[in-house]
Amino acid sequence: MAVTETIERKTTGKVRPHQTQNEGLVFEKSSPGKRAYKLPPLDVPAVDPVSLLGNSWRSESAQLPELSEIEIIRHFTRLSTWNYAIDLGMYPLGSCTMKYNPRVNEFVSRIEGLAEAHPYRPESLAQGALEIIDLLQKCLIEITGMDTITLQPAAGAHGEFTGILLIRAWHESQGNARRKVLIPDSAHGTNPATAAICGYTVENLKSNADGGIDLEALARQVDEDTAALMLTNPSTLGVFENEIHKIADILHAKGALLYMDGANMNALVGKVRPGDFGVDVMHLNLHKTFSTPHGGGGPGSGPVACKKFLEPFLPVPVLVRREGVPSQVSDHSSDEDLSPRTPASRPGAPRVETQLTWEYNRPQSVGRVRAFYGNTGMFIRALAYILANGPDGLRQTTEDAVLNANYIRKRLEDLYELPYKTPSMHEVVFSDKRQAAKGVKTGDIAKRLIDYGFHPYTVSFPLIVHGALMIEPTESESLEELDLFIDAMRSIAREVEETPELVKTAPHSTRVSRLDEVQAARKPILRWRPTPELPPRG
Ligand SMILES: Cc1ncc(COP(=O)(O)O)c(C=O)c1O
Repeated sequence: MAVTETIERKTTGKVRPHQTQNEGLVFEKSSPGKRAYKLPPLDVPAVDPVSLLGNSWRSESAQLPELSEIEIIRHFTRLSTWNYAIDLGMYPLGSCTMKYNPRVNEFVSRIEGLAEAHPYRPESLAQGALEIIDLLQKCLIEITGMDTITLQPAAGAHGEFTGILLIRAWHESQGNARRKVLIPDSAHGTNPATAAICGYTVENLKSNADGGIDLEALARQVDEDTAALMLTNPSTLGVFENEIHKIADILHAKGALLYMDGANMNALVGKVRPGDFGVDVMHLNLHKTFSTPHGGGGPGSGPVACKKFLEPFLPVPVLVRREGVPSQVSDHSSDEDLSPRTPASRPGAPRVETQLTWEYNRPQSVGRVRAFYGNTGMFIRALAYILANGPDGLRQTTEDAVLNANYIRKRLEDLYELPYKTPSMHEVVFSDKRQAAKGVKTGDIAKRLIDYGFHPYTVSFPLIVHGALMIEPTESESLEELDLFIDAMRSIAREVEETPELVKTAPHSTRVSRLDEVQAARKPILRWRPTPELPPRG
């Protein structure tokens, strides 16, 4: 107790105590006979469950917890206060772009006609939803500088999978699927996994001293057996690949394609367009760059944009705009007439109706990658974000994200080792080299950060930095919040010098202290089992 008090007093800044740290299991709160509902007496003939269910009828209770409604509500509400969220404070989890999700996105996505639209609704009655998909596609094509797009993939890794399938299908159409995919050691971990699952051999490219691609080594490694290079840009070091157009030229000269993992587009939107520097196919993470919730907040979306020559291979269905039967536009067309028109339509002139429709008959398509059309709720949120920001707002967002990362870099580089001095984009990667000399590792510092009220940064990734501290503040953070985070990190660096044990044994302010992470990952106890002391259930 005394130790905990000393430790808590020693943290500067904003330790946020949890609402309660002593919440029991819902099973422990149970008392026999309690109910969260009350049914009226049966006023219809009783049925015999055994005759209906046969052997499936269970004769004993399932031993579920028995509680009143308010006890359940309070239990889960209290548990929810143990979660950390972007709505509580900075969430500097590098590589994840944990940015604030503006409430306008949520408002728009909950509009009844959109939220309740069913994928089986006839196309003629779903034109509004399809217009949203069409407009989002156009916006993302404009932002990436590519020619065409599919919104179907449900996550970044799923987008990679779809993109590499496109590349494979195109090579096959040229007579040879080729054998290998090159991947730099600064790539996101999903890249090699994707290439392998698409049947390619992964060949590693070593980064140069700046964290970029060594062009000479690349030229030696690319051959007629190379299907593509998968490049995370900016890389997991937060470094932009300055020579990307030369990389594209080297690949194209050997008939190989350039795949860009565009999940880090938060550093590029509104500044440069991958389609302009030689990228053939790329994915975006809407749930990072375009503010739809990331992580436990909801489903993801990993659209794949590509150049024209890959269009025939896009997954089905593809959204197309068809012209329908010409009709006469009335001079008195009312405001209620919301059917889509060509821009040229004017009262009295013959109008050509257009309709958005899903096209399935595409013989060269890689097929379906997902049920229905993608995670539509994410599309609505992303489009709301894009339209609310507009081109200038998106550009400003990018600049702020890069500025914030560089502010942190500048204010911490005297205390934490910076292995790559190349200019940072949206995130900065330190190493624990100096702290490790005192026996303190990146994981210890991250856990101590919890005591200061922050979600940890990304630990020990990317792998090319030993003991990495990967920090991505995003544009969401104010100068005040950045300063609090910096104060916490500086304070921890001091603690490492003065009282390293304090950091090595953190966290001290949480309900459970340091966990055995291997045990927790490999042998989690996920099931409550009744103990003999518990009263029998009726
Ligand atoms: C650079 C990069 N690529 C790919 C992914 C994979 O995306 P997802 O987790 O949606 O599959 C991520 C995830 O954050 C990422 O940061």
